[in-house]
Amino acid sequence: MLKVEDLEVKYGVISALRGINLNVKAGSIVTLIGANGAGKTSTLNAIVNSVKKSGKVIFNGNNISKLKTDKIVKSGLCLVPEGRKIFINLTVHENLKMGAFNNSENFDELSHKVYERFPRLKQKINQMGGTLSGGEQQMLAIGRALMGEPRMLMLDEPSLGLAPKIIGEVFEIITELKEDIPILLVEQNAFAALQIADYGYVLENGEISLEDEAKNLLGNDAVRAKYLGG
Ligand SMILES: Nc1ncnc2c1ncn2[C@@H]1O[C@H](COP(=O)(O)OP(=O)(O)O)[C@@H](O)[C@H]1O
Ligand SMILES: [Mg+2]
Repeated sequence: MLKVEDLEVKYGVISALRGINLNVKAGSIVTLIGANGAGKTSTLNAIVNSVKKSGKVIFNGNNISKLKTDKIVKSGLCLVPEGRKIFINLTVHENLKMGAFNNSENFDELSHKVYERFPRLKQKINQMGGTLSGGEQQMLAIGRALMGEPRMLMLDEPSLGLAPKIIGEVFEIITELKEDIPILLVEQNAFAALQIADYGYVLENGEISLEDEAKNLLGNDAVRAKYLGG
């Protein structure tokens, strides 16, 4: 579904990513884990061309390496950014409308589906985005992305700042999505991410240091020591 080959990103003279290769298959959750500053966000931004990069990105059999960000999104590859970035001065419902910008004729049907998936959002349909809890804002960010009927989602640290119980709720919804919409999940919370992922990559200082089935990474001594608290 998504294949990334030899991705490189430089900020000025500083090399942030070197030789990144990733593969996301249909029907799966793939996680990219790594510490703060490892280059996780840069990887996602490079895939959607919102930072300058070199390397090759194939999505659904098409080479999208040189496409502009908006064209990539229209082709069905949607990024839910770090820090959610919902509209705080718009209601829940209006936020969903913004997500349906190129799909307004299906708005009623699509928003109905989002509210079915996220009953918490349905209860707060007319509440301002900025007054939602962190978990609800994350649900809204994912819901807004779904309004564009993406063929694949990339999520940048959806668990950041959330209480464990809410992380569980959000991650359960992510798991439900994967059959229809494969997911590239970027996380510092390695334990939570590896529990729902099928496959994982470990990013260290701009390079992939390890990759394996998620269950093997959960059992890997080096990964346990470094990312899972021993
Ligand atoms: N716009 C930028 N300009 C310069 N350096 C940046 C920029 N964005 C990120 N970096 C640097 O690149 C490295 C990787 O950052 P980032 O991709 O945000 O990591 P992560 O998401 O894993 O925390 C860090 O050292 C960060 O300081
Ligand atoms: Mg980041």
